[in-house]
Amino acid sequence: MTKRKTIIAGNWKMFKTRKEAAELASAVAAGVKGEKDLPEVVLIPPFTSIESAINNVKGSPVAVGAQNMDWRENGAFTGEVSPVMLTELGVTYVLIGHSERRQFFGETNGTVNNRLKAALEHKLTPIVCVGETLDERESGLTDSVVRRQVAAALADIPAEALAVIVVAYEPVWAIGTGKVCEADEANRVLGQIRATIADLYKECGNSELAENVPLLYGGSVKPSNIEEQMAKPEIDGALVGGASLKAEEFLPLIKAGQKRVKDSLSKV
Ligand code: PGA
Repeated sequence: MTKRKTIIAGNWKMFKTRKEAAELASAVAAGVKGEKDLPEVVLIPPFTSIESAINNVKGSPVAVGAQNMDWRENGAFTGEVSPVMLTELGVTYVLIGHSERRQFFGETNGTVNNRLKAALEHKLTPIVCVGETLDERESGLTDSVVRRQVAAALADIPAEALAVIVVAYEPVWAIGTGKVCEADEANRVLGQIRATIADLYKECGNSELAENVPLLYGGSVKPSNIEEQMAKPEIDGALVGGASLKAEEFLPLIKAGQKRVKDSLSKV
């Protein structure tokens, strides 16, 4: 069984005011209080609610991330937020290349690579998102699209950085649609992602590096389907949208992550 980190991350997208964020973050923090063998739990609010979430998870093991960031430290970039501004708040994770950023805000494989470099430089744990559209899947392009996205994200990234990078496979057709990707298929694509990483870094001669990268599945994850996903060997956690917006749905997802942590500890 794996020694990779298990991660349950909630991407709140453009939901939750400061007040709502405070309520949800404190409910999650209260829900994990005193629990052992927890997965890494990450709340990812919109920028304006980050500070509120951070204040309300203080003293708990819950981490807070950002949904995006610019790759420059400051400058004339109206509307952008820099890694320095995020780390100052106490943010420790950042989503990079979420498909909604790629679809609606002009994110490209090149800018994903810039953001990944900046996240590493500022010691933010990056969750790099990849995944195919429905058209690409129906044209048999899933593996080539995902491989290309992974290779482009990792361009010029040194092998040591693999120790902190997280990759999430989120098929675009499964996001917010209620159509979860079958667990076997998600596991297969994540296996392709791991093989791609191993291939990209084969010259460094350390096959453990790719083996240790946590890989998440995202797309319509709910309490009713997470266990099946988490039982697969390549699925180290979940990136969750809709079901992360209510503590009563998110806490069972954390429980499923905890079960995986306990199972892996019992097999060491
Ligand atoms: P969903 O979103 O769980 O609502 O499908 C996942 C995501 O976009 O990260």
